[in-house]
Amino acid sequence: MIMITLDKRDVYNGYQILINRDYPVREHYFDFSKLISIEHPNIPNSDILLELKTATLLEQLLNSICISNEIIPVSGYRDRAEQARIYRNSLLENGKTFTDQYVALPGRSEHQTGLAIDLAENANDIDFIRPYFPYTGICGDFRKKAASFGFIERYGKKKESITGISHEPWHFRYVGYPHAQIIEENQLCLEEYILTFIKEYSYGEKHLYIKDKMKTIEIFYVRADREKTMIELPEHNVYQLSGNNVDGFIVSLWRW
Ligand code: DAL
Ligand code: ZN
Repeated sequence: MIMITLDKRDVYNGYQILINRDYPVREHYFDFSKLISIEHPNIPNSDILLELKTATLLEQLLNSICISNEIIPVSGYRDRAEQARIYRNSLLENGKTFTDQYVALPGRSEHQTGLAIDLAENANDIDFIRPYFPYTGICGDFRKKAASFGFIERYGKKKESITGISHEPWHFRYVGYPHAQIIEENQLCLEEYILTFIKEYSYGEKHLYIKDKMKTIEIFYVRADREKTMIELPEHNVYQLSGNNVDGFIVSLWRW
């Protein structure tokens, strides 16, 4: 076994962080350094930035379904100033009720992490705030594969009272594999997964085991102690750590 030290600052980083009106992006701790532009032969909007792995997996997902440019990325990473500008402009154009339904407050948008992407079905007129991304055709194909590439539809229709955001069929969030599949299979939103579901599987107690064709992935939650939290992991297994942006960490451990 090896001893791993988890730093309190890392509660606010990682692929499973929850960002919403109650849990803002912690700008002092959040690591913004790994942003790249989306590369896709048929996508001209290469000024759209995403977190490195999010961009890579999105490209792989699009390549696995698209034969040409049927799906267009509309909005990826936004800094706080851009989110504030979008919020302000929407207030002027659409009013407060609409804006609060569809635009997160500055500091409280997943777009500020580079882990979220808005997608549109390719058309002449693409609505920037509410792009059209249906459940059929090539967009339906995208949805069928999204979770296996680590993406969830973040703001579901029946989850509006929990997420605080109206149904957004166009907004996808990278949370990583197999978390996206667990979320989808259990019909959860990210709030339910992070604040309730995953906490049933705490370090040193019962853990969650997800089996796929090749391997078993062990998942568990670790509550953050004051500054440093120590955990023991097996020596030769691949693992991934993420903060939850709330009060602890999620460990994903690949076992064969
Ligand atoms: N449209 C989502 C909620 C955002 O502005 O982050
Ligand atoms: Zn969005």
